[in-house]
Amino acid sequence: MTFSSFAPGRVELLGNHTDYNEGVILSAAINLGITAVGNPRSDHRINLSSSGNPDATVVGDPAMFEPSHGWANYPLGVVKTLTLAGHSIRGFEAHFESNLPTGTGLSSSAALEVAAGSLLRKMFALDIEPMELARICRRAENDFVGVNCGLLDPASSVFGRRDHAIFLDCRTESLTLIPIPSGAALLLIHSGVKHELTGGEYNNRREACFAAAAQLGIPALRDTTSPAVEISNLPDEIKRRALHITGENERVFHAADFLRAGDLVSFGRLMTASHESSRVNFENSTPELDTLVKLAVATDGIYGARLTGGGFGGAIVALADPDLMDEASESIISRYHALTAHQGIAYRCTIGDGAILAA
Ligand code: GLA
Repeated sequence: MTFSSFAPGRVELLGNHTDYNEGVILSAAINLGITAVGNPRSDHRINLSSSGNPDATVVGDPAMFEPSHGWANYPLGVVKTLTLAGHSIRGFEAHFESNLPTGTGLSSSAALEVAAGSLLRKMFALDIEPMELARICRRAENDFVGVNCGLLDPASSVFGRRDHAIFLDCRTESLTLIPIPSGAALLLIHSGVKHELTGGEYNNRREACFAAAAQLGIPALRDTTSPAVEISNLPDEIKRRALHITGENERVFHAADFLRAGDLVSFGRLMTASHESSRVNFENSTPELDTLVKLAVATDGIYGARLTGGGFGGAIVALADPDLMDEASESIISRYHALTAHQGIAYRCTIGDGAILAA
């Protein structure tokens, strides 16, 4: 019998690097993602394939991250994590197809893990709640692949819903869906400079946030506010890192209210403020992302723009008026090229369903 799953990429609307600080996030699943098709085997052999990538075969429990397995480490990490959690996985065949660009900050790695996890959940009738599936995928990435990311990516890929933003509280792990008003569309523009999370910068920022919380004597940066951080005697660099997180949490709460009220102009302003904080406080932007945001916010039909995801390259997300979006996108890309010689790529994606709703 053949089984299939689909797991989308996600766009982070606001709440940058707040997930591992037990903070809050607004995100959305997009209509681009990864489809997995497979069937169980009667032995313990795992055969993984993906168009354009080398196949991988493992017999028995995948022991550890194996560089030669490349992309297949993500599904293998999910197998390993499921096994460690006490689920019984036999051998299987699985083929993955993606229409999600990699290196954009749209979370192709989480989509691959969630596609694998959802497929195995169906194939072996595993008793796993959706939030547990998201946690398992995060653990696979943390412990097997070795990237210390938070819950944002897998939770968005699991729970997304068409035309809705996801409000995720990473402390309580509770999630609410907020309808996106009809006059809003998302424009993603890749800067042409790849985003790499394995580069060590992500883990550096994470350490800086934990150091700030420890020095403030609180469990996590979720437990303080921007005014309190301002008057603290944290050293300058750590203070700026902390201010980014407290500011992002505050912006997410305000933005959720603006979204519910249909106030896209105020929502957009918070996105642009978030980018400014990335640039100045968290220093996870790049000159190319800064240029794209600057051009975007000066363009008719754009409510606001910011980098999306980890940073250090990748894409910006802009909140746009759907009627003006095509023109805005062309104008941003041509001015970006004239200024930087980089070729920006626009993705006009819509907000789609997550793995639990998708077929
Ligand atoms: C990456 C990580 C997420 C999150 C974002 C920044 O996408 O995978 O867990 O930390 O960066 O918000």
